[in-house]
Parts: sequence; C-alpha cells; structure tokens
Amino acid sequence: MNYYYIETFGCQMNVHESEKIAGILEEKGLTRVSEASLSDVVVFNTCCIRDTAEKKIEGNIGELKALKRARPDMIIVISGCMTQQSGRAEALKKRFPFIDIILGTNNQYELWDKIERLISGKKKLISIDDAEKPPISEDVPICRTSFPNAWINIMYGCNNFCTYCIVPYVRGRERSRDPELILKEITAATDSGYKEITLLGQNVDSYGSDLASGMNFYKLLERIAGIEKKFRVRFMTSHPKDLSEDVIKLIAEHKNFCKNIHLPVQSGSDSVLRRMNRKYTKKRYLELIDCIRKYMPEAGITTDIMVGFPSESDEDFRETVDLVERVRFQNAFTFVYSPRKGTPAAAMEQLPPEVKKARITELVARQNAISDEISRDYLAREYEILVEDELDGVVAGRTDSGRLVRFPGEKSDIGKFINVLVTKNKASSLYGERV
Ligand code: 5AD
Ligand code: SF4
Repeated sequence: MNYYYIETFGCQMNVHESEKIAGILEEKGLTRVSEASLSDVVVFNTCCIRDTAEKKIEGNIGELKALKRARPDMIIVISGCMTQQSGRAEALKKRFPFIDIILGTNNQYELWDKIERLISGKKKLISIDDAEKPPISEDVPICRTSFPNAWINIMYGCNNFCTYCIVPYVRGRERSRDPELILKEITAATDSGYKEITLLGQNVDSYGSDLASGMNFYKLLERIAGIEKKFRVRFMTSHPKDLSEDVIKLIAEHKNFCKNIHLPVQSGSDSVLRRMNRKYTKKRYLELIDCIRKYMPEAGITTDIMVGFPSESDEDFRETVDLVERVRFQNAFTFVYSPRKGTPAAAMEQLPPEVKKARITELVARQNAISDEISRDYLAREYEILVEDELDGVVAGRTDSGRLVRFPGEKSDIGKFINVLVTKNKASSLYGERV
C-alpha cells in the first residue's frame, strides 16, 4: 500500500479533519496522490448540511464502483457527517456494497486500525460512535495542507439545535479542548512558520462552558494575544446570541486578531428567527453590528443567510433584504433551506421550490451589488497582504479584513506579508501592485 487520495466535502472543520486523516496515513508511509484511480486508499470525508451536498457525494461514491471493479484491493473509506445520520451508514453500505470502511465523525482516528483489520479479515467495517459527548481524540498526527494558515480546533459539537440544522445530531454536544493543548498547538504551528491561525468551533463564543476551570473564549483569546509573535488569528463560527462586547473589544485592541468577523444571521425576520430557535432578534443583531463597527470601523463582516425556511412569508423575506441593505455585509454565503431528516423544521410546512428560487435570486443579486460597492472602497488604498497562493506568476492573499487581493508574484511569496496598493476591481476580485 503506497498511495492515498482524499476528497473533502463541506466546511473548514472537515478540511481540517481531512488533515488528520492524511496525518494518520502519512505516518504509516503512504503518499498523497491527486487522482482516486492512482491510489490504494480512497477516503471521502463527507458533509450532510444540505441535500445538494449529499446528492453530489452519492454521485461521486457511485463513480468509485468502476475503480473498485478494476482494482478490487483498493480500499474505499467513507467518513464524516453524512455517515453519522441515523441509519445512514447501513443504507450507504447497502446501496454501495463496494465501500470497505465507514467511519463516523468521532471515529476517524480509528482509520489505520480498521484498515489493518480489513486486510487481515477481509471484513467490511462500520464504526460510528453516537455517544452525545464522545471523548476528544488528542494526539492524532496532522498533515497540514493550508499553509500559511493552520486550522486549530478549539471545540467540537454544538448545543444549539437550530431547528433546520443537522449538525448537533451528527457532531454531538459541545466539548471544549484543554486550553493548554490549544496554546501548545498554536505555538508549534507559528514556530514552524505558519502565519495565520484559524480557530475552529461550531460556536466558538461558548468555548469553555463545559470546562470546570472557568475558561471561556475571552480568556482563551487573551492568552493567545499574549504570544509575542507576528501572526494572524481568525476564528469561526460566532453565534450572534453569544458574541460579547468584551470579545469584540479585545479583537479590536490586539494587532494579531484579524478585523474580520463571520456572524451568520440566517434571517432578518423575528418570527423566522424564533422558529429557527436562533435566540436573537433583528434588532439585537443590528446592535451587535453597530458594536463591531464602533470598535472596528474597517471590519470585514460576513454572514450566512438562508431563504425559504418553512412558512417564510414575503414580508419575512423583505425583512431579510432590509437587514442585508442596512448591514452591508462584505460578503454573504446564501443558501436555500433544505429539509434535513430528523430536524424539527423538516416536519413543518414547506414552501414551493419556485418561491425559494425567486427569493435566492433576488437576495444574491442584492448582496452582489453591495459586495461590489464595498470593493470600490478598497481602491487606491494600501493593505498588508498575507500571500496564500500562486498561479502563473500571480499571487493571491488576504487583507486583515478578509478580502482576497491578487498581484504579480512568485511561489516563494507564499507565507509572506507584503504591502500592496489596490488598483483594480474586476468581477468582484481585487487586483493590486506591490508598494
Ligand atoms: N438548509 C440550508 N442551509 C443550511 N445551513 C445549515 N443548515 C441548513 C439547511 N438545512 C446553512 C446555515 C449555516 C451554514 C453553515 O449552512 O446558513 O450557517
Ligand atoms: Fe447548526 Fe445552529 Fe449549531 Fe450552527 S449553531 S451548527 S446552525 S445548530
């Protein structure tokens, strides 16, 4: 066994979990390849947040059948959120009998053990730990793939049960990592040259609520601010019900914290927010935005918005458009509500698809126009860019506020902070030149 291939679907949490899966395989001497057909182990790390994600993954799993027929000793592993839904692992195995190993969201660290057992016994294996609070697996090797950014988990799971969301069912309740281990990981990453840390959690603002030590997100950030090195710190995701003025102030005051907040609003209608179990109102959300802008006038604020939640009326939707116009988000990830089996909203009365479609089209057009207007504010100004990527003599990197800027450069610029004057705004991308 020499080669492995991983395909990751879904969010940054999954991107990072794939880095752990890669870490396990590399530790055993396997090398990554960029095509499934060339590999001995194929891993699909899956997502189930929306039906579109699941349909796409099912299609891709189906395509593995021919590969497996040509190479019966190829090991096919399906892991992550999709497998963790009730009854789903068995259904997957039935529909795609060529799958060898299925690992739930808390079982990925068992990968090598399962591969060995498969080889010795030729048995298909399913391992799904559906405890509410499975223990955190520390000491899993990580093969980072996002230089100069290092993803670092601060917590796992979610306690919020927004009525549309499958995450609490597939990732269990909130478990916070030991702050000392988080700080050790940050120090190790920055010591080895990483220039950006992104703290990951489903609801980072409630970090520590399950720890006996009285630790919380503010205190964790204070400790991180105490590390005397130049690197950027981002985090995701914040919840509007929990993001505090103290945290906002701390981010504003410390140079290492990026002035970039992702704050999913979901809807601008109080009645929809109530039915979503979001626990804040439009007024409260707008106050939070004012608070962020009071301390950080230049902050890049981004959000997630959903249209077509059950019983969302035209009036409700107008409230969402009104909120988007008032806040003027730098960028918004917009979604059509997708019923998820087992969640309360899936049992509510659904809207017709054409209503959802008309709303998403209008929302996207409005937000694109706003994002474009905001882009113009960047023109003729200078920014410090952390370079992330290079293609054909053009590098791409982000401002502190999270905007991507492209300018001429080379591979060796990746991981460097470079001052750039923004000169052009084309098709919602920013371009610039070194100063
Ligand atoms: N349908 C559509 N979008 C969803 N999201 C979460 N669950 C669903 C669903 N059932 C969106 C939310 C969340 C983002 C990660 O995905 O906007 O913030
Ligand atoms: Fe899902 Fe809500 Fe938890 Fe986010 S906070 S993961 S939307 S239940």
